[in-house]
Amino acid sequence: MKEKISFLKNKIDLNSPNKNIVPVTTSINNNGNLCIGECSIDDLVRKYDSPLYILDEITLRNSCRAYKKALKQYYPGQSLPIYASKANSSIFMSNLISSEGFGLDAVSEGELLTALKGGVPNEKIVFHGNNKSDKEIEFAIENKIKVIVDNDHDLKRLEEISDSFNYDIEIMIRFTPGIECHTHEYIRTGSFDSKFGFGIESLNNLFEVISKTKYLKLIGLHAHIGSQIFELDPHKDLGEIMVNVILQAKIFGHNIKELNVGGGLGIKYTQEDDPPSIDEWIKTVSLSVVQACKKHKLDLPILMCEPGRSIVSTAGVTIYKIGAFKEVPGIRTYLSVDGGMSDNPRPITYQSNYSACLVNNPLNSNSKNKYTVAGKHCESGDVLFKELELSNCKTGDLICVFGTGAYNNSMSSNYNRIPKPAAILVANGEAEIIQRRESPLDLLKYDVLPDRFIKQS
Ligand code: LLP
Repeated sequence: MKEKISFLKNKIDLNSPNKNIVPVTTSINNNGNLCIGECSIDDLVRKYDSPLYILDEITLRNSCRAYKKALKQYYPGQSLPIYASKANSSIFMSNLISSEGFGLDAVSEGELLTALKGGVPNEKIVFHGNNKSDKEIEFAIENKIKVIVDNDHDLKRLEEISDSFNYDIEIMIRFTPGIECHTHEYIRTGSFDSKFGFGIESLNNLFEVISKTKYLKLIGLHAHIGSQIFELDPHKDLGEIMVNVILQAKIFGHNIKELNVGGGLGIKYTQEDDPPSIDEWIKTVSLSVVQACKKHKLDLPILMCEPGRSIVSTAGVTIYKIGAFKEVPGIRTYLSVDGGMSDNPRPITYQSNYSACLVNNPLNSNSKNKYTVAGKHCESGDVLFKELELSNCKTGDLICVFGTGAYNNSMSSNYNRIPKPAAILVANGEAEIIQRRESPLDLLKYDVLPDRFIKQS
């Protein structure tokens, strides 16, 4: 019999996967091995090698459906959830979120192309970025993708480029709402001192400038407060602030019909984390917009939100193989794995914490040791866990790190010329490849040795 487990035996919340540490299908098979999506992890590593990114389809779909359901329940107007593809961009992810009725937020030509190839309809894509290139702007306009204007330079480029296209271009503007939240400084974006968006004080001038342009049609507002947020209060205030900006824009003749409140809902990486549920987050956001519209006697705009992490993070795990052990007497034991900062740069970048277990002993059921889990890169800071408690383990055993679906693959690098891992999708006992493993030879593809050097050698 399979036993359903959550990390450390917590009850699994099927409706709000961001409140669990593990994917919703996590179980242990008769051999005591960890399974996800009814697939035994050690079988998967035998077939696909390690390190290995795994995504659980049911967790992904449950997260998307929780957003859709809550929007339907709490927001009486039209709504569109948009997946922030920076969290994990692939043809597969674009296809999946599109099949769940989501739109997609992209910040580069690469992300735009991935979305289109994955089948996201152009009218459901929004294009962000504080320094879009002319080529990227042209690509967006050609494909009739809505552009979110971030600053004066962005607006000027867009206006000039739009002249060579003979049609109206729908735009939204991003502004900083001046809301503080408690998250890592690098992922806080809604305060006044941010590189993103127009300052709220510059909006009147901006509205005037836009009204004089030939092709730019301002139809929406965007604000994003930050990421991995556990508080609901910042979003309670956002509705009123945004609705006031709608009224301000009206004075300049702009009819704002779309409000995009960004993303930011946190997930549970460790036992200490206690994020709100998707339902609670959407309820807060919706009420805030509905109440502000009521107060100012305004028709409800189309409500958009842009979750990234809370869609994909908990659905993802990374599997590593244990290699070397090194004991520093009286200080610590290093346990090295076959990946690290190239497949997961978050610990070294943000000091992020994760949860993990042994694949052959998920419940940690014999005597325990504390290990410092090190990556294989040539950098002392390449440490995935400063201190991880694991049962006795040996070279060749597998470690599963949870919550790695967001901002791991998408932020991965080839530092030390380490090829990127494969990614697979699991569901109902089937595993399918969604990203092929790179090989060291792939990494040489773009190297060029100038002719005169070839002659010399
Ligand atoms: N919308 C905008 C405009 C954003 O900038 C972001 C995230 C999102 C939506 C999605 O936020 P989420 O729901 O994922 O919190 N690399 C960092 C996270 C950076 C977030 C950047 N913007 C990390 O690994 O924690």
